[in-house]
Amino acid sequence: MKILLLGKGGQVGWELQRSLAPLGGLVALDFDSTDFHADFSRPDELAETVRKVRPDVIVNAAAHTAVDKAEGEPELARKLNATSPGVVAEAAQQIGALMVHFSTDYVFDGSGTAPWREDSATGPLSIYGKTKLEGEELVARHCSRHLIFRTSWVYAARGGNFAKTMLRLAKERDRLTVIDDQVGAPTGAELLADVTAHAIRDTVRDASKSGLYHVVAGGETSWNGYARFVLAQALAAGVELKASPGTVDPVPTSAFPTPATRPHNSRLDTGKFRSAFGLDLPQWQAGVARMLREAL
Ligand SMILES: NC(=O)c1ccc[n+]([C@@H]2O[C@H](COP(=O)([O-])OP(=O)(O)OC[C@H]3O[C@@H](n4cnc5c(N)ncnc54)[C@H](OP(=O)(O)O)[C@@H]3O)[C@@H](O)[C@H]2O)c1
Repeated sequence: MKILLLGKGGQVGWELQRSLAPLGGLVALDFDSTDFHADFSRPDELAETVRKVRPDVIVNAAAHTAVDKAEGEPELARKLNATSPGVVAEAAQQIGALMVHFSTDYVFDGSGTAPWREDSATGPLSIYGKTKLEGEELVARHCSRHLIFRTSWVYAARGGNFAKTMLRLAKERDRLTVIDDQVGAPTGAELLADVTAHAIRDTVRDASKSGLYHVVAGGETSWNGYARFVLAQALAAGVELKASPGTVDPVPTSAFPTPATRPHNSRLDTGKFRSAFGLDLPQWQAGVARMLREAL
């Protein structure tokens, strides 16, 4: 099986380079790759890359993920999140490839407290959410064999992340203030990449598994609960901190105004994914604790 991975340098792309390698020949590209064009701001060149590589499976991990920046550059966000994935999907259909694409909880308006299902009504609040929803629709419309995975609150061990920022602040300050009215599930890029590889194997054998799925770690928390968990893990590991879980003060989202509006309810129901692929999605704490053991 030949696989084309686009956006190989991102959080999920980096882990996919590892998890997809055992499935077959992997051609992994980034926006500045020179052997083949894979710059999503130049959609016209992407179809040619797909035709030249001629993969059995295309995995798109490239995106415009700077949620606040997207509010000021909607056209670029649309190119990266919608137009280019649509072009790749059309090219995938022409060569009979399976296309795998990632999307987000930001396609929902964040109302209520119930976990969103794949068939729940969408209502994006931001340019990022709107353009990601357009991307989903284009991929599904243009490529009959597709897997679209909506996920949330993605972190990776490599590079900066929320947990590392909380640890740095907890070393500098006695008290932290962290939002407690956005609820979701921190999801490791490692977990996403691993389950993506399993799902690809299944879908290549059985095209009826194509479709839209919600994929996040189990359980739920707020950013405040996430921060408290990180500090507790660090203290248990003997790290010296000025702040502690008890001095992470809860504040509403309105305390930190941002250009993009974020959903309050980012809970995603993963029942469809778990039953279609017979996979378990471990509790979010397991992945965060593991990432911290590597980072500390
Ligand atoms: N991060 C989250 O919390 C989150 C939550 C829900 C869903 N998702 C979705 O999950 C997927 C993977 O996200 P991630 O967290 O891995 O994001 P990421 O780390 O920001 O990775 C995105 C990748 O796209 C690349 N990229 C930027 N501009 C490009 C261009 N013009 N052409 C080609 N590639 C370009 C980035 O390169 P540079 O780094 O060099 O800019 C980066 O390698 C995305 O579809 C995202 O929407 C993410």
